[in-house]
Amino acid sequence: MKDYVELLKKYNQEHILKYISKLDDDKKKNLIHQIEKLDFEQLNELYKISNRDKNKAIKGVIIEHIPFVDKYKLENERKETLTNIGENIIKSNKYAVVTMAGGQGTRLGHNGPKGTYKLDVKPNAKYLFEILAENLLRENKKYNVVIPWYIMTSTENNEKTVSFFEEHNYFGYPKDSIRFFRQGNLPLLSEEGKLLIDENYNIKIASDGNGSIYKSMKNEGILSDMKKRGVEWVFIGAVDNAILNMCDPILIGLTIDENNEVASKSVVKVNPHEKVGVFCKKDSKPAVIEYTELPDQLAEETDEEGELLYGESHIMCNLYSLNALEKIANQNLPYHSAHKKVNYIDEKGNLVESNEPNAYKYEAFIFDGFNYFNNMTILRGIREEDFAPIKNKEGVDSPYTAIKLYNEFWKLN
Ligand code: UTP
Repeated sequence: MKDYVELLKKYNQEHILKYISKLDDDKKKNLIHQIEKLDFEQLNELYKISNRDKNKAIKGVIIEHIPFVDKYKLENERKETLTNIGENIIKSNKYAVVTMAGGQGTRLGHNGPKGTYKLDVKPNAKYLFEILAENLLRENKKYNVVIPWYIMTSTENNEKTVSFFEEHNYFGYPKDSIRFFRQGNLPLLSEEGKLLIDENYNIKIASDGNGSIYKSMKNEGILSDMKKRGVEWVFIGAVDNAILNMCDPILIGLTIDENNEVASKSVVKVNPHEKVGVFCKKDSKPAVIEYTELPDQLAEETDEEGELLYGESHIMCNLYSLNALEKIANQNLPYHSAHKKVNYIDEKGNLVESNEPNAYKYEAFIFDGFNYFNNMTILRGIREEDFAPIKNKEGVDSPYTAIKLYNEFWKLN
């Protein structure tokens, strides 16, 4: 029996044979090649975590408050010392920036990579990638350097992202200091654990979450490129924060001063039940706990000054030493499952569109990387200066709210 037939039978995926039998030679070859490359054992493991009760994930885990530093409560002298430490790192070309742009942006629903979304800010509308490029160009000028900029794409959006940059002349950023790299992906599984087929008769896959950045940076040669360039500190941020500060010398200085290898900027929750992940310690290691996992009692708990004990939101504004990234890249981060609406082609060749979640997607989360360290630095910033996310089409964290925050930040009102 052919290898792929054996594999499909062994792992209860025989339905794929029905598709194969109807395909022309090229498509058949292509699909068989994809099957032969799949890690079926891993898929079995992933299917086991589908639909797992989220509360079970923290059962028996000790959740504790994690200390943070409030940027706006720092004494002037301390601020100056930390700023100097951070600025020296940037000025001596030891700093690089990574943008995570491999997400699907399903909630925003923009047709194309999220970074190609045009935000109607003043005085002229700008693409999200353009906003990031402008910010970095400003820092380059300030410190008289060219910060290497790495952009993580996905299998799905890589080509569109690269050609978008080419069409826009890299927004004036020195081309040889930009490098794109692709993140990993994983097959989606139906509720019965079956592989799905897409419109082009490929195995239906999706990005495997922003936590795959660590391994992707290693596998795509990004970590070694950074090493070659003498980079020691790396900022990793999201593509969808219109006022993201990618070069905060205080964040760098504080991390070095606290003798940590990993750091993150936070903003305090709007209210105890805001739907964001917050920093904490899980079994004494730094972590982010998702709002779905945080018991109400902990969510509302305050210290003697009335501050929420679990109030520091993770806003995807993270800093790592290069050594820390190498260390995490050698670990296997856990996967989380999400129940999603997924279109696919059935065995008769018809497109199935679902209004209800009908399949599982598996993702690693960037913040699970914090777990491999005993401590991390957390610097509390403020929303108005650090966080204008674009997640939803309208309402909270939408283009509307981000435009307002952007215009206010740059005093364009
Ligand atoms: P989100 O988790 O908010 O996902 O990503 P998203 O793709 O932007 O939007 P939805 O959930 O589909 O609506 C936060 C950051 O992580 C990146 C995103 O591009 C964004 O910068 N990301 C997310 C990746 O790079 N890869 C992924 O697999 C997922």
